[in-house]
Amino acid sequence: MLPRCAFSVCHVLVLVLCLSSAEDFDWTKNDHGSFYYGTFPAGFSWGAGSSAYQTEGAWDKDGKGLSIWDVFSHKKGKIQQNDTGDSSCEGYHKFKDDVSLMKELKLNHYRFSISWPRIIPTGIKSDHINEKGIQYYDELINHLLESKITPIVTLYHWDLPQVLQEKYGGWQNITMVNHFNEFANLCFERFGNRVKNWITFNNPWSVAVEGYETGEHAPGLRLRGTGAYRAAHHIIKAHAKVWHSYDTQWRAKQKGLVGISLSGDWGEPVDISNQKDIEAAERYVQFYLGWFATPIFHGDYPQVMKDFIGRKSVQQGLGTSRLPTFSPQEKSYIKGTCDFLGIGHFTTRYITQKSNPSGRSSGSYFTDRDLAELVDPRWPDPGSEWLYSVPWGFRRLLNFVKTQYGNPMVYVTENGVSEKMLCTELCDDWRIQYYKDYINEMLKAIKDGANVKGYTAWSLLDKFEWDEGYSERFGLYYVDFRNKNKPRYPKASVQFYKRIISSNGFPNQREVENWRRKAVETCSSSNQLLAAARRKSKDHAEMPKVWPVHDEV
Ligand code: NOJ
Repeated sequence: MLPRCAFSVCHVLVLVLCLSSAEDFDWTKNDHGSFYYGTFPAGFSWGAGSSAYQTEGAWDKDGKGLSIWDVFSHKKGKIQQNDTGDSSCEGYHKFKDDVSLMKELKLNHYRFSISWPRIIPTGIKSDHINEKGIQYYDELINHLLESKITPIVTLYHWDLPQVLQEKYGGWQNITMVNHFNEFANLCFERFGNRVKNWITFNNPWSVAVEGYETGEHAPGLRLRGTGAYRAAHHIIKAHAKVWHSYDTQWRAKQKGLVGISLSGDWGEPVDISNQKDIEAAERYVQFYLGWFATPIFHGDYPQVMKDFIGRKSVQQGLGTSRLPTFSPQEKSYIKGTCDFLGIGHFTTRYITQKSNPSGRSSGSYFTDRDLAELVDPRWPDPGSEWLYSVPWGFRRLLNFVKTQYGNPMVYVTENGVSEKMLCTELCDDWRIQYYKDYINEMLKAIKDGANVKGYTAWSLLDKFEWDEGYSERFGLYYVDFRNKNKPRYPKASVQFYKRIISSNGFPNQREVENWRRKAVETCSSSNQLLAAARRKSKDHAEMPKVWPVHDEV
């Protein structure tokens, strides 16, 4: 049994499953649950990630404009404990320390995002460019390159300039396409001589659904049944426009790549002999990953989305589908706008068919799918309520990407696990287990033929976890948020991940067991040091800045 810090309240149905999930796909035959010892292809890129609003802090420093997350987090009742990202990890001031941590891990790449309002305070390029913001990213990029760490840069990790929200309604408005394109071009112009890997959007599913449908995320709108589809439509167009801009104006000179990072849980049919469950599980994945990936790879929304939303819209007495349509010109413009696909993946659901009577109500993204999500209570869930550890789902998702989208070049842009705030324990044995098993399933997917070129552990540091505030910690490094210097402490998983990187995989059972044992041994001394620092902080205002990372275990 994995350690648990707190009971999580399940808001999905729980199902005790007696089903074997192994035999329904060829690629998992006979080895479900077994560990595969072996190494990754030469040149495989290992990294860790972060995003601007989650780590930078300095929310109002050096001419930065407000983002929708600054405004949203300052409203009472939106974020756990009314936390904000105002100072977060102070990454804006401590980036050099953080690059040292990355060097310690021997990372090949670091994924971070650029805060749009930090470099264009109103979001509108013709208004004003903030050179101090540009300078910050210049220094970060230079420092990474000097440390032989490749920057992978996300242009939009959710922090839209507030002015664009107020003036135009944010992603509900088609004018975002041009504003975003201008911002992207500025980034290509200023950083593109050094940055060769660009991600236009991070997890647009979340932007659309949580920002414009459920309102749990900024800008907090609840436009049920239409808001998410409209936001997604504009995001897809904005992505395509930026890819074309790069292709026509910058690619020849800069020789970089432009992709998008999509998130996707895997959906497994509850009953693999029931056609309705099989179709419901397929729908789950199509409404999630396919919503964005299918237009980008094939030019239009998944047929099943068009059918379901269209039919329900008619039943609701609407003249047109709530799912917007692309013109033939738009379809061919959008199709193929992806040099690599970023995949953010954390968890899996069992899916069963469940009809939702559409009636005359407005409908919603969730009811449009006609399905129910279930989890196996035996799945470990050490942190976030929604995050169950189901490693085999990762392999299935990567194989789905391979077969559905013509085996594109894939970078895993996010994968990791959280713990609840109450755990100040640095011996994160369950995180070691999660990484070990998920990375192993990725290795199996590569053996299946999936074209995965890199992996990004999510995340380098504990950080602001959106509406969960600081209550969920995803970091390889623990951050003491109660100390204004925000010192970082290595968790045991740092040592384990470091070994995976230096061996480029899992050499043999004896070694891997040894890494784990040593990592857990070492962390007990880190625990004592953290406890001592805590005691000291009660006596002295001054605290250690960054805890030294243990070199050898
Ligand atoms: C996906 C988001 O992109 C990231 O910012 C977040 O930290 C993780 N999910 C975990 O919730």
